[in-house]
Amino acid sequence: MNIYKIMNESEEKIISGYISSINGSLIKIKGLEDQVRLNDLVKESNHKILGEVIQIYSDHVIAKVFENTFNLKLNEEIISLQEPLSMELGPGLLGQIFDGIQRPLEATFLESDSRGFLKRGVDIPSLSRKKKWIFKPLRKVNERVNMGYVIGTIQETQFIEHKIMVPIGVSGKITYIAEEGEYSIIDEIYRLKRGNDEKTFNMIQKWPITKNRPYKERSYPQEPLITGMRAIDLLFPIVKGGTVAVPGGFGTGKTVIQQSLAKWCNADVIVFVGCGERGNEIADVLKQFSEITDPKTGRSLLERIVIIANTSNMPVSAREASIFSGVTIGEYYRDMGYDVAVLADSTSRWAESLREISGLLEEMPAEEGYPAYLPSKISSFYERAGVVNIYGEDDAGKKNYGSLTIIGSVSPPSGDFSEPVTSTTKRFVQAFWALDANLAYSKHYPAINWLKSYSKYPEFVSDWWYERDIYWPEIDIDWYECRNQINNILSQENELKNVVQLVGEENLPKNQQFILFIARLVRNSFLIQNAFDLTDCFTGIKKLIGQVKLILLLFNEGKQLLNRGYLIEDIKDLKIINEILRIGRSVSNDDFKALERIKKKLINEIESLKLLHGVFKKK
Ligand SMILES: Nc1ncnc2c1ncn2[C@@H]1O[C@H](COP(=O)(O)OP(=O)(O)OP(=O)(O)O)[C@@H](O)[C@H]1O
Ligand SMILES: [Mg+2]
Repeated sequence: MNIYKIMNESEEKIISGYISSINGSLIKIKGLEDQVRLNDLVKESNHKILGEVIQIYSDHVIAKVFENTFNLKLNEEIISLQEPLSMELGPGLLGQIFDGIQRPLEATFLESDSRGFLKRGVDIPSLSRKKKWIFKPLRKVNERVNMGYVIGTIQETQFIEHKIMVPIGVSGKITYIAEEGEYSIIDEIYRLKRGNDEKTFNMIQKWPITKNRPYKERSYPQEPLITGMRAIDLLFPIVKGGTVAVPGGFGTGKTVIQQSLAKWCNADVIVFVGCGERGNEIADVLKQFSEITDPKTGRSLLERIVIIANTSNMPVSAREASIFSGVTIGEYYRDMGYDVAVLADSTSRWAESLREISGLLEEMPAEEGYPAYLPSKISSFYERAGVVNIYGEDDAGKKNYGSLTIIGSVSPPSGDFSEPVTSTTKRFVQAFWALDANLAYSKHYPAINWLKSYSKYPEFVSDWWYERDIYWPEIDIDWYECRNQINNILSQENELKNVVQLVGEENLPKNQQFILFIARLVRNSFLIQNAFDLTDCFTGIKKLIGQVKLILLLFNEGKQLLNRGYLIEDIKDLKIINEILRIGRSVSNDDFKALERIKKKLINEIESLKLLHGVFKKK
């Protein structure tokens, strides 16, 4: 938000009132009631503290304040800024860390001050005015441009070319465009004329956080967002433009999943909203991102990330804004044609801030004290995800697309998924990765429960996977069929669980014992994945398909051997099984030859088993 600009503008015509009462983070203001609209920003003039109008009455308005109210006094002056809370959008967002209302936080601040308190009333602009960027113009004088047209570009980081777009709702004829050269974001870059009206533009755009940025039309998602987590990419896939909830009780691995996504998923830009989590966790994320280099470019991963941090000890109102601030920044990069992922950890802390403010307003509480509008707030967050045909000029008649994926973790108290935030979120998302405390206790990470989780996306992405399949004649089935077979094995294991408890595994028929054996192999070699192991942390698509196919090859060959009277013990004793178990950690993603070798060995061992028993039987 351009606070400087707002100050200057407001100096021209100050609309002000005064504080008539203070209640926690809410203040009652008199004198502004017929001057402000709902959601307009107000600013306390002594301490320069910001607030947002949330109720208007005939003789006063109520504003929630984004900072601590502890030394505000009655009768202090409040100025109306005459605009809603908006994000300042432009070059310099990437690699930055902001609070919920886009005040830049120094990385060092979070590390040094474990209490995480902000200096109040910091009046610094969101994006640096001093930094110079190299602007490359793409248009000429006299060209006509509409909203979304790209005027020029800036190499914001090694990864991302920042497109300077004509703001939403603006069009006209270019009367001036800056030459290639160094400019700050407040320097004039172009001028547009429409009728007699001529306007000048710099690189900054502003957009209110609660309003969806428009697009031409929605499109069907077709491409998976590859996460590198095997359980997700095979069993519960997600698409670019999709929505996911990751519910899980205390310590079940939500943050580790979100951090792995931020590091490895194949989105171009990541917006990480650390919502109400511990300050040191955010500092930890920062440290990790700055240390990790992208395998493709060798540059710091921080260069594709915007972090919004609201630790639990920062004021609640800013926390409430933070997920919408994140999604607004996400939409802005989507509008440049990028695949963006917004990761919110955790939306429960965010929902708690809604509850806190609603309580102060003495609104009628609904379930568990959450306000009745909790569902509409949650849906207004997730509905901003999608693949869209973006505004701007089509490339040689080809439509341009951008996508925004939203993945929100939920921390239900005592892991109860029927509580309001989890159950409401479930209604608005298309994929659900349910984290299980029992799996986490037994060190099965990621603790995604394969029976309670689901994804509605497999049909959308099966063609994409089909095109990238590896052809092994011995196991000629595609990703979709592999997925079905693995699901089948896991659900059969679940059905057999009760019988095993009654009669013991060794008393089951051999083919059922074999299903249990393979299901264990699936869990231990495939579903379990160590996020901290250098090789295991990310599984590429070829390795994933290879790994599943090896397990299924063993399963199918083993079944046939059993049917022909071979002993289950002999199959379980195949030496290659140990190697299959270790693939996650031992085979790197680009080492496809290693998978071929394992496959050959598996086939050889099965052949020798057949031979051995052939000899044995002959005797
Ligand atoms: N994929 C994984 N690989 C290895 N260890 C993991 C994995 N996921 C989680 N863990 C372990 O579990 C611990 C807790 O995980 P995490 O902090 O992500 O839980 P959380 O659900 O975010 O907890 P909280 O409810 O406190 O926010 C981690 O510190 C790590 O030791
Ligand atoms: Mg966490």
